[in-house]
Amino acid sequence: MSLRAHSAKLVARPAGRLQGRVCAPGDKSISHRALMFGALALGETTVRGLLDGEDVLATAAALRALGAEITHVRDGGPLSGDLWRIRGFGVGGGREPADVLELGNSGTSARLLAGILASHPFTSIMTGDASLRRRPMHRVIEPLTRMGGRFEGREGGRLPLAIVGTDEMVPIEYRLPVASAQVKSAILLAGLNTAGETTVVEPEPTRDHTERMLRHFGAEVRVVLAPGELGDGGKRITVVGWPELLGRDIVVPGDPSSAAFAVVAAAIRPGSDVTIENVGVNPLRAGLYQTLRDMGADIAFENEREVGGEPVADLHVKGGVLKGVEVPPERAPSMIDEYPILAIAAACAKGTTRMQGLAELRAKESDRLASVSAGLFANGVKHEMGLADLVVHGTGAPPAGGGLVATHLDHRIAMSFLVLGLAAREPVAIDDGSPIETSFPGFAQLMNGLGARIEAA
Ligand code: S3P
Repeated sequence: MSLRAHSAKLVARPAGRLQGRVCAPGDKSISHRALMFGALALGETTVRGLLDGEDVLATAAALRALGAEITHVRDGGPLSGDLWRIRGFGVGGGREPADVLELGNSGTSARLLAGILASHPFTSIMTGDASLRRRPMHRVIEPLTRMGGRFEGREGGRLPLAIVGTDEMVPIEYRLPVASAQVKSAILLAGLNTAGETTVVEPEPTRDHTERMLRHFGAEVRVVLAPGELGDGGKRITVVGWPELLGRDIVVPGDPSSAAFAVVAAAIRPGSDVTIENVGVNPLRAGLYQTLRDMGADIAFENEREVGGEPVADLHVKGGVLKGVEVPPERAPSMIDEYPILAIAAACAKGTTRMQGLAELRAKESDRLASVSAGLFANGVKHEMGLADLVVHGTGAPPAGGGLVATHLDHRIAMSFLVLGLAAREPVAIDDGSPIETSFPGFAQLMNGLGARIEAA
């Protein structure tokens, strides 16, 4: 069952140059973790800057069902943002949920909560919308089963999924078979309620928000770089079980994956001058910005600072003509959610852009390689799609546009093709803009405030 009542067709019309200053919405990954760690801590945690998108609200509802008290104090204010208060139940202190946990579209909720639920001695059931029920869960079921959890799901471990947890988990050392921060985080979360030391070996570095925030809440987390054993960037990450996590004050920075849409829109409209304030620029999330600079984009990181233990900057973007580039496959984990919007930048660039190492895109909210390819085709963009790669041929002139794009319950497909509509010769329509609510409420208003023309169709 979807959390949304209606789908909403939207259209983006060709726009002139974009101008203005906007603030990126709160980081989705960090928002989920702030709520989860607040729930696993004793005492009160306060959070400012939390994303109040549907995915994060699904995590909040699930944690309430486990016994956390979570309140949203709408004190607003342009500078401080709303306040969220969490009274946690402590590591291992959650109670059996009375009903099925409905997680909507949110893979991060499902995968990370699996680690918490498997390490509690009760049975719980998770489900979600049609997109989430298609997504692979085996990747978390396998390591959590080794630790002692039991799972019954549909074929391939897909949701609805019953989790028979235990408070007698055994610590493991686990080498990630796919570069996934969600799998890493699920194991580390289970390791909190496990005696001894739980280690995740990560051959390719993925976003490290869990490790940063665990430390902030008082857990002992050791990270050892192991380049000889694992290749460049490989790490062994160990959490020591049964820490006493204590409530903290958290400030969530803006989301680089959401800022990406405004950044690319400005970068591909010559004459644009846009600043997106308060964007997280953790190097493990910033691969798109490196790639756009390789393409010749004019992006300055201004006012660099730290917010909530994460590096943050204001991104000042000036529009121009981009050029096609080769995107190295090892950059994929640091921009895994940004390939749809990069494909739009590539469609508007002069020359060929090659993106490789994209197998994981097929396991996102939709099969993102297929969704992007279909959207490019509908809008007259020359490209080739392989099993794990995408090659886009831009001419430097505006793409034809005029297509209707199927979004397949995927927020990033929806927003990416609306950005294409700003830069194409003809308007671009999407069949359903409602998934945008999962990560970027107010997207159309924010973009229109910069000069875009996104409307109900
Ligand atoms: C996320 C990790 C990534 C990313 C997702 C959020 C996280 O997924 O695509 O949007 O918050 O840990 P994978 O771990 O599957 O790569």
